[in-house]
Amino acid sequence: MRIHVVDHPLVAHKLTTLRDQRTDSPTFRRLADELVTLLAYEATRDVRTSEVEITTPVSPTTGVRLSHPRPLVVPILRAGLGMLDGMVRLLPTAEVGFLGMVRDEETLQASTYATRMPDDLSGRQVYVLDPMLATGGTLVAAIETLMERGADDVTAICLLAAPEGVATMERALAGHPVTVVTAAVDERLNEHGYIVPGLGDAGDRMYGTVG
Ligand code: URA
Repeated sequence: MRIHVVDHPLVAHKLTTLRDQRTDSPTFRRLADELVTLLAYEATRDVRTSEVEITTPVSPTTGVRLSHPRPLVVPILRAGLGMLDGMVRLLPTAEVGFLGMVRDEETLQASTYATRMPDDLSGRQVYVLDPMLATGGTLVAAIETLMERGADDVTAICLLAAPEGVATMERALAGHPVTVVTAAVDERLNEHGYIVPGLGDAGDRMYGTVG
């Protein structure tokens, strides 16, 4: 497993406003969307392309197009949904699958409540969207589901990560072709499984609290 922390002043600027508790939901959603597009630019550095012959108004030339099969983008519901538009803005021809996962707030264990994806992912590049890599339980479970279906190249895009979550992923996915792209690795998790300093509950900040 590989981790790539995107070091860019615009990423740091947007992340700071996301962290600020005074940022309201509409602004949070817009900034998360913009931040995802910046992270997606880095995350797609190795997207597969094929050569293609075209003719410009001046001469024939060789260019590239995204290869088939097309990449698959999988937001993890609920909060990953707020990252989808920012991702498909860069990859408009990608297919989109969905994984609904919820974390038990006491045990911090992740369980799957909805899956909508192709059965066969062999040969596919998959981009998983999950804003917070906290304990790592949700992301490990999601990536294992993708690998069981044959995915051999998985990139997780997270707004923020905790060192504990990165360590869990490294243990569980050692030797697998998995990359995590994030804007920052924060200090630690607190006793409630929240990233410190973090930005709070990403789903609540995007969509308002669901009781
Ligand atoms: N999920 C969140 O939304 N925030 C955290 O800090 C950790 C997990």
